[in-house]
Amino acid sequence: MTTEQHDRQDKRNGGYEGWLRYTHIEDAYKREAYSVRCSQLQIMGESPVIHTARTELAAALDTMLGAKPREMNGTGGESFGIIGGTIDSFTRCEARIPEDCHLDELGEDGYVIQAEETGPIWLFAASDNGVLYAVYHLLRLLQTDQPIGKLSIRETPVNGLRMLDHWDNMDGTIERGYAGNSIFFRDNRIVADRDRIRDYARLLASVGINAVAINNVNVHREETKLITEPLLPDVAKVADVFGAYGIRLYLSVNFASPIEIGGLDTADPLHPDVSAWWRAKAKDIYRYVPTFGGYVVKADSEFRPGPFTYGRNHADGANMLADALAPFGGHVIWRCFVYNCLQDWRDRSTDRARAAYDHFKPLDGQFRDNVLLQIKNGPMDFQVREPVSPLFGGLSRTNQLLELQITQEYTGQQRHLCYLVPQWKEALDFDTFARGEGSTVASAASGALFGTKLGGMAAVSNVGDDSCWTGHPLAQANLFGFARLAWNPALGAEEIAAEWTAMTFGADPEAQRVITDMLLDSLTIYESYTAPLGVGWMVNPGHHYGPNVDGYEYSKWGTYHFADCNGIGVDRTVRSGTGYTGQYALPQYERYESLEQCPDELLLFFHHVPYTHKLKSGKTVIQHIYDTRFEGTERAAMLVTRWDSIKRSIDAEIYRLVRERLVQQAEHAKEWRDVLNTYFCRKSGIADELGRTIY
Ligand code: GCU
Repeated sequence: MTTEQHDRQDKRNGGYEGWLRYTHIEDAYKREAYSVRCSQLQIMGESPVIHTARTELAAALDTMLGAKPREMNGTGGESFGIIGGTIDSFTRCEARIPEDCHLDELGEDGYVIQAEETGPIWLFAASDNGVLYAVYHLLRLLQTDQPIGKLSIRETPVNGLRMLDHWDNMDGTIERGYAGNSIFFRDNRIVADRDRIRDYARLLASVGINAVAINNVNVHREETKLITEPLLPDVAKVADVFGAYGIRLYLSVNFASPIEIGGLDTADPLHPDVSAWWRAKAKDIYRYVPTFGGYVVKADSEFRPGPFTYGRNHADGANMLADALAPFGGHVIWRCFVYNCLQDWRDRSTDRARAAYDHFKPLDGQFRDNVLLQIKNGPMDFQVREPVSPLFGGLSRTNQLLELQITQEYTGQQRHLCYLVPQWKEALDFDTFARGEGSTVASAASGALFGTKLGGMAAVSNVGDDSCWTGHPLAQANLFGFARLAWNPALGAEEIAAEWTAMTFGADPEAQRVITDMLLDSLTIYESYTAPLGVGWMVNPGHHYGPNVDGYEYSKWGTYHFADCNGIGVDRTVRSGTGYTGQYALPQYERYESLEQCPDELLLFFHHVPYTHKLKSGKTVIQHIYDTRFEGTERAAMLVTRWDSIKRSIDAEIYRLVRERLVQQAEHAKEWRDVLNTYFCRKSGIADELGRTIY
């Protein structure tokens, strides 16, 4: 092995290389079959992204095949090798582009991989990014043991924007981060050593991410200064690192910046001094960072400043910023997470679930073309189970971005195994019926449903400076899975899990099967020992880890379950509750409104029922609570046994890291079981039919 190969091997041990391990292919026959096609290459062009594509391809082939591929010159008459570039770098006939392949349909980031049984493998795309994605696709085929004899692959991302949001603060902490400290900031500065950022960009580009916001949506004092001249040169350096991987950098900004750093006494979006200040600011930013993506804005939400202070609405605020960025091609990503966080639990007329729709639906059609509204998947806040936000389908004339949470704030904080792709799939596949049957959330978010100009998916990253990036090594599957879905929401949860497992853990089929199954079971396991039937929360306040049934019940945050001795759940019906169900189109409205039709798993989100209410499963609510808590805890304990069964196929350090967490999860699941069972046993006065231990 060369020193380079050694270094890579070393890093790999802790999970640092993630799904880009590029393990040496041991099977000599397979290695030979790949080598015949891949021992020389030519990627045409000179841009930083093309340079990345070339070096990535060469390094990966070197490690996997055990020999550095030879660089070719010219595309004339090669009988084998990999030849790639943008479509204008070679003629159609040279590139063997099939007649029926319409290049304009590839869009900005799409690509084609074309090969006959003999001759070169052609990678071509409309843009440099497309070439890079084609390279990663080809490498993925090798990593997952696929044949590369005859290839006819055409890929176009469904979503234009495929984005990761970081909730990183400049002191190095990460809000809701469970994998160490920030890879971008330390001691109120941007880190000088950008190697780790480069390695992160590489992981993201390999799965098609093209945008990243590096700082927390809660923009505090230091972060407000990120758009000022002392810090912009360092922002530019980070933007360059990402730029070489086809990723545009965004910043979260403070709506009150004109006051806090601009010396004005107002941030009123309709005040001419304020808009002039933001216009000048945009000029400064683009002078340093010509590829700057734009702003992410959390306004009038959880005590952050916004246009409401000045009697203006969210369209006034977003459009003013959008006008300032428009000349440079920048976007404003305006978050819809707006609700009253100073509620009284006795006030049954205010419903946090209604808030985003009530605020933003009346503004539909009033936003500029370069504004995207970023909408959380559910109406509350990333709970293990929520219905889909009715803003999807509700907004038809506004660019939208679906926001998911990869960091596991409410789903076990990367101590519990919780593969979230099945949850995201449910949201993406949900039919809003806004334009009749088949009006899925995926199509609303991408822009296809309503023909909106921009669209996509964003998610809060789960990455920190931890050795394996994500705290729990298996939580990498969520980062990978989000990106794969952002590229193509039609991919299946199992397909993604199997792909990630094969790339990360290599060829052993038994290990692949066990890990894939563990991932696929994990969400239902987690759900079955935590808050039941869609009611949400029941966590310790502040840090949100561990059970506390009444932790938020009498607080101001509007997250109630209303359990008393008679029953539990929130009546959100039009008939007798908060009217939230009325925000859905038919037939979803009817489905949720009706106690009979409402799906069991969301029952307590929509209805308040007695503990003796019979679910569709035939069980009473109380017996369901007991049964699932007991079963969930047992299934959590089994995860340890399942992991142990593949010990010999797993790298020792990763084995240890995962095991440690699975053991902890099994213990903490017991705590959830006991705290919830005891609470509901006492509240309801109804015993467990099976007489199991309830403390
Ligand atoms: C949640 C989370 C906060 C975060 C907020 C947001 O409420 O607990 O830490 O700031 O979401 O999405 O803005």
